[in-house]
Amino acid sequence: MKPYKKRGCPAYILLFALILIPSALMLGGCSYSRQPRIVRIGHNQSTSHPTHIALAAFRDYIHEHMEGRYQVEVYPSELLGSQTDMVQLTQTGAIDYCIASNAILETFSKNYEIFNLPYLFASADSYHHAMDDPDITAPIFTATQKAGFTAVTWLDAGTRNFYTVSKPIESPADLKGLKIRVQQSPTNIEMMRLLGGSATPMGFGDVYTALQSNIIDGAENNEMALTDNGHGDVCKYYSYDMHQMVPDILIGNNAFIESLPEEDRIIFEEGYRLINQVQRKEWVKAVDAAREKAAGQQKVQFLYPDQEPFVRACFPLHQSVLQNNPAIRPIYDAIQEYNTRYPSAAE
Ligand code: GCU
Repeated sequence: MKPYKKRGCPAYILLFALILIPSALMLGGCSYSRQPRIVRIGHNQSTSHPTHIALAAFRDYIHEHMEGRYQVEVYPSELLGSQTDMVQLTQTGAIDYCIASNAILETFSKNYEIFNLPYLFASADSYHHAMDDPDITAPIFTATQKAGFTAVTWLDAGTRNFYTVSKPIESPADLKGLKIRVQQSPTNIEMMRLLGGSATPMGFGDVYTALQSNIIDGAENNEMALTDNGHGDVCKYYSYDMHQMVPDILIGNNAFIESLPEEDRIIFEEGYRLINQVQRKEWVKAVDAAREKAAGQQKVQFLYPDQEPFVRACFPLHQSVLQNNPAIRPIYDAIQEYNTRYPSAAE
């Protein structure tokens, strides 16, 4: 007799069962008409990450304010695939929302390039004020209408810095010959070229294994990646060159958003604001805790290199992006005004 083989259910079958069958049942007849509308949101962080905490607050808010007419389901940890997969699911309406890094959205609209520029914001205050200004964000957030989705709010993802397995990064020269994972965005690849390292684009979920198996020598991200994603178990040097402040963006399927009756849409919009506020509060606490854990338990060394050579190397990217996409020039200029108002602490 053949031995019994335990076989896993392929992810696409699970996704089919999870998404399509209940939707078909809900569309299928009046016996289901009192069922709540299921609202699915996917993201790639853990359940203790500020992103998940904020989305859970949104779920509870919608539950409380909508008399059970909508049921929000939050899918963490790349359960529905990588961010790129989730953006595509949101485009088609297979899911209703997902959180995507601004970095990968630039392949859906060039306008997103602006927030991927290294050293765009002079300080965290300038970044926060600019991102809170609808005159700055609206032309970007609505730029993907034709692609089937719209951005509804942004989330803080801190500052991005280089971290490496064994070679401390004190200046751009130290990046030479190193394979550094970057997000899948042309701007990030060009940034690494200008800094002299070798860009290795890949999805977030693959980075830990790539570090551990020496496929890459390092990566770049905020401090949470060290602890929440375990990268600090492998990488022992984290250098505050502060090259980017790339926001995460909550995007929603256009057909779903437009299908909401006016009074429901107002409550959803209040919910988006709540996500932004809860996430930002949680973010500050989470980064402090991550730094403490990385230094204490993972023995990661934090380094503070002179940022000036990094800034100088990256600066040509501002000019090339603006030349290739003059439409974003007014937004760039408006951000410079925030930079003047909220300069870096060093100035
Ligand atoms: C951060 C960001 C994520 C992104 C990740 C990455 O963690 O919050 O949205 O996916 O960086 O580097 O891919």
